[in-house]
Amino acid sequence: MKIVHAASEMFPLVKTGGLADAVGALSKALAGFGHEVAVFLPGYRAVLKHPMFAKAARRLMIQVELGDEFLQADVYTLSLGKKLTLYVIRRDEFYDRSHPYGGEGRDYDDNDCRFIYFCKAVVEVLRIVDFKADVVHCHDWQTGLLPVLLRMEERKLQDTLALKTVLTIHNIAFQGVFPNKSFSLTNLPEDLMGIDGIEFYGQINMLKGGIVFADNVTTVSPNYSKEIQSSKFGCGLEGVVRTRADDLVGFINGVDTEVWNPKTDPLLPANYSVVSLKGKSACRRNLLGKNGFSADYEGPIYGMVCRLAEQKGIDLLLSVREFFIKEDCRLIILGSGDGKYEEALRKLAEAHPNKIALSTALDEEASHLIEAGSDFFLMPSIFEPCGLNQMYSQLYGTIPLVSKVGGLVDTVVDIEKEATKGTGLMFAPKTRDFRKALQESLQLFQDKAKMNQVIKRGMKQDFSWEKAARAYENLYQDMI
Ligand code: ADP
Ligand code: GLC
Repeated sequence: MKIVHAASEMFPLVKTGGLADAVGALSKALAGFGHEVAVFLPGYRAVLKHPMFAKAARRLMIQVELGDEFLQADVYTLSLGKKLTLYVIRRDEFYDRSHPYGGEGRDYDDNDCRFIYFCKAVVEVLRIVDFKADVVHCHDWQTGLLPVLLRMEERKLQDTLALKTVLTIHNIAFQGVFPNKSFSLTNLPEDLMGIDGIEFYGQINMLKGGIVFADNVTTVSPNYSKEIQSSKFGCGLEGVVRTRADDLVGFINGVDTEVWNPKTDPLLPANYSVVSLKGKSACRRNLLGKNGFSADYEGPIYGMVCRLAEQKGIDLLLSVREFFIKEDCRLIILGSGDGKYEEALRKLAEAHPNKIALSTALDEEASHLIEAGSDFFLMPSIFEPCGLNQMYSQLYGTIPLVSKVGGLVDTVVDIEKEATKGTGLMFAPKTRDFRKALQESLQLFQDKAKMNQVIKRGMKQDFSWEKAARAYENLYQDMI
C-alpha cells in the first residue's frame, strides 16, 4: 500500500509528547512491512536544525491557497529508511519558531493559519507528485481538516488523490477551535460552516472536521475510544464522536524498542535485562547522584516524566505531597509546561532538597534514566488516551502507579486485583485512592520477592509496535 501520514510531530525530528513517538514508530513499522510510506511534517525550527535534516533536499516549490492569497512553500524530502520518506513543508514565516505551538504559556495567535496551511500544502504536494495514496492518515486537530480539503480538491480536479482517509485522535482535549472568521482561510464551500461541517458553537473546530469527514476514526486505546463517547471525557465532541461509533476503533500504541529497551539503550549508564538486573542498580546510583542525592540511598525512588498539564494529574500529585515529605523515599520529577505547576513543584523541591528533585528541561536522556533508575513510576492522570511511560516503565523494570483511566487501564494489570498477573498499582484519580496506592507501594517495596516477580512480569510484556502496526495495516486493508 501507499500510505501517507500527516502529523505535527515525529520522533526524532520534533517531539513535545507521545504523538511524536507514535508517529515515528508507526510509520517506521509500516515501511518495515514493505509499504511505501510518506510522512509530512511542518518545517519547524527544531526540524530544520536537527542533524538528520542536513541530508534533506529541496524537492519542490508549491503555491498554497490560503483565503485570498497564494503563499509559497518549499518542500524538502529526506529518506528515513527503506520505503520511508519524510516531506517537510517549509515556510519560515509560519514554522521557524522556538516551539511548535506557542510560547510563554500561550498558543501562537496564527495557529489557525499555520495548520490550515499545512493541511493544504500536503494536498498540493500529493497532487503535484501524483502520489496516488491508498490511505492518508491524519493525527490530531492539526491535520483534522486534511480529509475534507482532500475531497474538495479531488472534486475540483475530478481525480482521486487518496482512496481512504483515517484520523487518529491522540487527545480529544485539543481540538483546534478558532473564531468563525478563520473559516475563510480554508476556501471550503460555505455550507461546511454548519452543524454538519466544521462549525462548533459558532466557531470552527478542526478536530471535528476530521471526525466528521475521515473515512475511519481511531483512538490510541480501546478504553479511550469508549470514554470519548461520554460527556466526562468527550470534551464537548462526544455527540459528534457517537455519530461515528461504527467507524471508530482503538489501538494501543506500541513501544519503539529500538529506542526504549534497557538491554540496548545507549542513553543509560548501564544496560540490563530481565535475566540480570545488575545494570539497573547502576542506573539507580547514577540517577540519585545526578539529582543531588546520595548514591547509596536504598529506599524507594518514585519517578515521574510528563508534560506539566492538568491532564497529567499534577494537582493530584500536589495533594499527596505529605506522603513524599513524611515517608522515607525520593521523588524525581522531569516535566515542563504550565507555569503554575512548574512554580508549585519548584517550591516543593526547594523546600525538601534532600528528598524531592525537579527538572523542567525537555531532556530525552534524563527521561530514560528516570525510567531505568526508579523503583516506581507515577502517572496519576485525570485522563490518558494511551500513555507511553507506563509501558516504558514496565519494560524497564519500574513499577507503574497509574490512575484507572484511558489506555492505562488497557496496559497495566492491577497487582491488588490479579496477584499472579499484576504489573502495577492502580487507583481512581482521587487523593485518597492515590495515597492508598502509594502506601501499598511501600509495602511492596518491603517484600522483595513479590516486588521482583512484578518487575520481571512487567519486563516480559510485549508492547512492540509490530502488534499495533499490524492492526492499522488490517484496518487500511479492510477500508480499501
Ligand atoms: P503525552 O503525549 O500526553 O504527553 P505520553 O505518555 O503519550 O503523554 O508521552 C509522553 C512522552 O513525552 C514520553 O516519551 C515521555 O518520556 C516524554 N516526555 C514528557 N516530558 C518530557 C521531558 N520533560 N523531557 C523528556 N521527555 C519528556
Ligand atoms: C497524546 C496522549 C497520550 C498518548 C499520545 C500518543 O498526547 O495524551 O496519552 O499516549 O498522544 O498517542
